[in-house]
Amino acid sequence: MYITNLALALLALPFAALSAPSSNGKPLIDIDARAAAATSTPTTLSSIQSADFNSLAAKMPQNCAVGTLSVPVAGSLAVPAGQAVSMVTVGRGVQNYTCTNGTYASAGALANLFDVSCLFSITAKTIDPAILSSLLPKLASKALSFPDAGKLPIAINHLFVATPNSAAPGISPEFALSNGSDKIIVSKLANTPAPTDPSANVPWLQLGAIAGQGSLAKSVFRVHTVGGQPPSSCTTEGESLSVNYASMYWFTK
Ligand SMILES: *[C@@H]1O[C@H](CO)[C@@H](O)[C@H](O)[C@H]1NC(C)=O
Ligand SMILES: *[C@@H]1O[C@H](CO)[C@@H](O)[C@H](O)[C@H]1NC(C)=O
Ligand SMILES: *[C@@H]1O[C@H](CO)[C@@H](O)[C@H](O)[C@H]1NC(C)=O
Repeated sequence: MYITNLALALLALPFAALSAPSSNGKPLIDIDARAAAATSTPTTLSSIQSADFNSLAAKMPQNCAVGTLSVPVAGSLAVPAGQAVSMVTVGRGVQNYTCTNGTYASAGALANLFDVSCLFSITAKTIDPAILSSLLPKLASKALSFPDAGKLPIAINHLFVATPNSAAPGISPEFALSNGSDKIIVSKLANTPAPTDPSANVPWLQLGAIAGQGSLAKSVFRVHTVGGQPPSSCTTEGESLSVNYASMYWFTK
């Protein structure tokens, strides 16, 4: 009886948290799915460095607390007083441009964001979050194409929508949970050139939630950008261009 229950429990382990009753009604084995999944997540810097982003993201546990982490900001970016980190994600997508008077003008973006909060919370005491934050977009940039074919669990869809409550035509960034339960539309509050290779890597940004457009977060920080910058000039007026990029997106509430 004991053997049978345990064997069944072990078979079920990868699929769900479980609580198999023993003969006296007390749980024989009671394992949190998150803890079980965490054991298969690399936890040393060298193992994360050599990991493939697809396999890292595919087995990432979800819903870990990250409120004590600090956003790795630079330049004029600053976390407003009273806000704490609510989610840490890696984005992979395209920055769009339109050729306007000889240079590429920004025309929005489209990206998939993957929740890596648990990787940060699991390693909080052993790996500097700024080092991890700088590493993950490089891994994502190397491993993923866009649109992604890997069927990774997308946490947030990043796109542009018409600017709400605005008389002037324009578009604004939106971040929407892929399960549809919340979103925010944001405006740019601060930007600073990428500290490394700013002609290739798009600027770091601080985005603030527009009131009344969802409660997913109060601020979003785009940091540790990889790629996304257009060529310095263009010749075909009106031409559209999409440039691949990856980035960290830190959410605070
Ligand atoms: C392009 O440049 C011309 C000449 O400098 C200017 O008159 C025009 O407004 C510019 N167009 C745009 C879309 O910026
Ligand atoms: C950006 O370009 C992609 C195609 O590369 C397109 O699917 C997406 O809708 C564009 N987004 C915006 C805001 O222009
Ligand atoms: C949607 O996803 C968020 C973030 O992972 C989670 O907190 C929330 O509970 C989910 N909502 C539903 C209805 O699944």
